[in-house]
Amino acid sequence: MVKLIGKKKIKVAVFISGTGSNLKSLIKFSKQKKSPITIALILSDNKNAVGLKYGDVFKIKQKFFNFKNKTLAEKKILKILRNNKINLICLAGFMKILSKTFIKKFRGKILNIHPSLLPKFKGLNTHEKVINNKEKYSGCTVHYVNSKLDSGKIICQKKVKVKKNDTPISLAKRVLIQEHKLYPKAILKIFNL
Ligand code: GAR
Repeated sequence: MVKLIGKKKIKVAVFISGTGSNLKSLIKFSKQKKSPITIALILSDNKNAVGLKYGDVFKIKQKFFNFKNKTLAEKKILKILRNNKINLICLAGFMKILSKTFIKKFRGKILNIHPSLLPKFKGLNTHEKVINNKEKYSGCTVHYVNSKLDSGKIICQKKVKVKKNDTPISLAKRVLIQEHKLYPKAILKIFNL
């Protein structure tokens, strides 16, 4: 668990692989007075991730790591996290699975956002699965990361109604809007704010 000490903000690293809209919402949240976090680092396994642009826009240190050699990548990441005094990791559309060893080193200090009402629809292609399964509701979940995929303790969730004519794309768009509100809410919650 991460604890707030006085008024000092918790240093966060956000891991992304793509668009980075959740990263953007976390950066905006971090700049609010009530926010207990500051985003000190952006990491990506994809050097073309669109979200990396927010590093330039908001002047946040950004790094790309090649996960072809995961052990090596994680070793380098641990070093940079230590050097930057990172205390909390937020996975935000990060599509690689971190090793058990890595997760152990940051136990209780890694959060993830997933676009379904976990424990339903873990893994990839969530919105397709929801529609194919004719679910009435979908949504999003922020949870702690443990060694099993999308299975750590749930912090908070938001329901989104599935419409009759929804496609995976239209549903993803509506869920994403809720994700942008849910991640900051989850962060306030873990610090009892
Ligand atoms: C979000 O919907 C996030 O929940 C999902 O990828 C999208 C990333 O969007 N994550 C996963 O599916 C993780 N398994 P963003 O890059 O615009 O934040």
